[in-house]
Amino acid sequence: MPDFTRVADLSEIADPGKMLVEVDGEVVALFHVEGRFYAIDDVCTHDGGPLVDGELTGYKIACPRHGAKFDIRTGAALSMPAVRPTRAHAVKVEDGGVWVALGSGPGATPGPNNQAADFRSYTPTNTAASAAESSPASHASAGSPAAASSTPATAGASPSTATAAATDGVPSEEAVREWLKEVKDPELFVNIVDLGLIYGVTLSPSADAPGKHQVAIDMTMTSPACPAGPQLIADTKRAVGSRDSIAGVEVRIVMDPPWTPDRMTDAARDQLGIF
Ligand code: FES
Repeated sequence: MPDFTRVADLSEIADPGKMLVEVDGEVVALFHVEGRFYAIDDVCTHDGGPLVDGELTGYKIACPRHGAKFDIRTGAALSMPAVRPTRAHAVKVEDGGVWVALGSGPGATPGPNNQAADFRSYTPTNTAASAAESSPASHASAGSPAAASSTPATAGASPSTATAAATDGVPSEEAVREWLKEVKDPELFVNIVDLGLIYGVTLSPSADAPGKHQVAIDMTMTSPACPAGPQLIADTKRAVGSRDSIAGVEVRIVMDPPWTPDRMTDAARDQLGIF
């Protein structure tokens, strides 16, 4: 039998509503939607964002940091940049309170809560109880005008174009973008061009190496604390700097405008199964 802990009185959480509770020393996001209660880890699997502070829409909670959405019933990651589920926990209602038992691990199959008693008949005695409700966050906005004006992330050249540009000694921006497709995010296994991480590519003749070019690449990360950042920078420099026509590579990390999932190309969405 799961070890349930009483975390709240029924009247403490509105419907729809959410609140942060603690179970055995762990922080858990508790939700009340259409008469049922659900609990998942208060941790976004992308980069640790606090899910309970996000916007709740139906059964979806949006991470306030970069907009990843999770299903509160199962913990499943529904949208980028999160790809792994967060842990779902068992919930029951008893003695006028809500009880939670920690799940069995990341991505755990929905606990008893999700098949358990139907609470639709329950009428909250205090529908105004919304102290746990936080203001909807708005971080998951689409790209700003500034974002729209930055160089499109979609590569415009075919591989053959890129090869031609590379071999004739005069590289083009399109060729560089093709080279950059060799660099893949180590967590998502999607190349950084299709992910929309490349904001700009600038080529200029090298002052030190006649006939060669210097490349400056404006690149962003899916989050400011992206753990893959150093590797992505190194791989980017290697993918471009190894070409005969390139004298040097500068990678400039740009966090404004912030990356959002809508920057991904259709190819990346297909690869990640996002429709
Ligand atoms: S930390 Fe949640 S989407 Fe990045």
